[in-house]
Amino acid sequence: MRKALNFNRQLAEFHSTIFAEMSALAVATSSVNLGQGFPDSDGPHEIADAAIEAIRAGHNQYPPGPGIPELRRAVASHQLRYYGIEVDSEKEVLITAGATEAVCAAMVGLCNLGDEVVLFEPFYDSYAASVAIAGATRKVVSLKGARFEFDPSDLEKVISDRTKVILLNTPHNPTGKVFTPQELSAIAKVAVENDLLVVVDEVYEHLVFEGMHFPISTLPGMRDRTLTISSAAKSFSFTGWKVGWATGPAPLVAATRSAKQFMTYVNAAPFQHAISYALDNAELFTEQVRRPMEDQRNRLVEGLNRLGFSTFPTSGTYFVVSDLGGSSGSSAARFCVELANLAQVVAIPVSAFYHDQTKDKGQIRWTFCKRPEVIEEALQRLTDHRDQMKARAF
Ligand SMILES: Cc1ncc(COP(=O)(O)O)c(C=O)c1O
Repeated sequence: MRKALNFNRQLAEFHSTIFAEMSALAVATSSVNLGQGFPDSDGPHEIADAAIEAIRAGHNQYPPGPGIPELRRAVASHQLRYYGIEVDSEKEVLITAGATEAVCAAMVGLCNLGDEVVLFEPFYDSYAASVAIAGATRKVVSLKGARFEFDPSDLEKVISDRTKVILLNTPHNPTGKVFTPQELSAIAKVAVENDLLVVVDEVYEHLVFEGMHFPISTLPGMRDRTLTISSAAKSFSFTGWKVGWATGPAPLVAATRSAKQFMTYVNAAPFQHAISYALDNAELFTEQVRRPMEDQRNRLVEGLNRLGFSTFPTSGTYFVVSDLGGSSGSSAARFCVELANLAQVVAIPVSAFYHDQTKDKGQIRWTFCKRPEVIEEALQRLTDHRDQMKARAF
């Protein structure tokens, strides 16, 4: 069996156990889990009702390959209403099994073996694996300092003849950073000068609390080289439905579709109907999700800072990062385990979002996509164990 059990080593390399371990620890210690990035309450009930109606109306068989026309039109209309971006719903929109599939299918569809893809680190954990699945090579630019900024010269330095794609995420998980138009212009300049594609994951586009989300595809020279990805998961709080989409120039969408065709073929027929209704009423529903999320962010951030878990600014997403300050070694990972055992609260070490997860950053990520009473309970537990936590050097 030795040969038979010698599985894909490259993928095994990306199989991070941190999330699973922390979730198991949360259960074992009866912790409040502020590690998992999904809401503990559902999105607007009208959208759920639309899904139930779609099931009852018989939308239960394979939908068309690119997605149902109603949803493709709703996605195109959303891009136009919010950002003035015109996309042809026939050729420039693809519905996917969440943003995760869109990213993976884009990497597989757009890259040839050995092409290089630039990521900004820390990055959402599926990106490195998607690049590897595509047989491409990952190059990394670090986001640094309290505002997780990058040095444009670092970006220029990683570009080579083999670079094909810059894979970007804004608003950004895990940091809560919203890339500014200036930063996006610097990325666009490098993309245009070096004839690169940009794949941008905008799943948190409607969860911005300060500043504004800015789509890189609207910058000069970017329309024809940008594939934009988003999803119903975060905008409408239906993470389990796995309805995402990719929009952009027809050749990029077609290449992504040819990969998706052999991954899932199609997905989520009744939920596609419900999300077309949600997107047509996005002005109402996204605000119903965003407003309480902002209150929850304020509640958690204020509480953490009061307790001495000094937080970096977070302008969007579900997340805030605390700096443990001056620690070294595997401190944040160890601290998270101690926190669960001692105070019954779970957070995630930010090292989980780096390729080299042994390099601890002394930072932990908390999520605020939980009900106010859950956040209060977590803060109370942290308060109750404050002195013990301080006593344990990490
Ligand atoms: C940056 C980012 N992209 C994509 C996803 C997943 O999106 P979906 O559920 O639509 O696949 C997440 C979920 O945490 C995320 O944080």
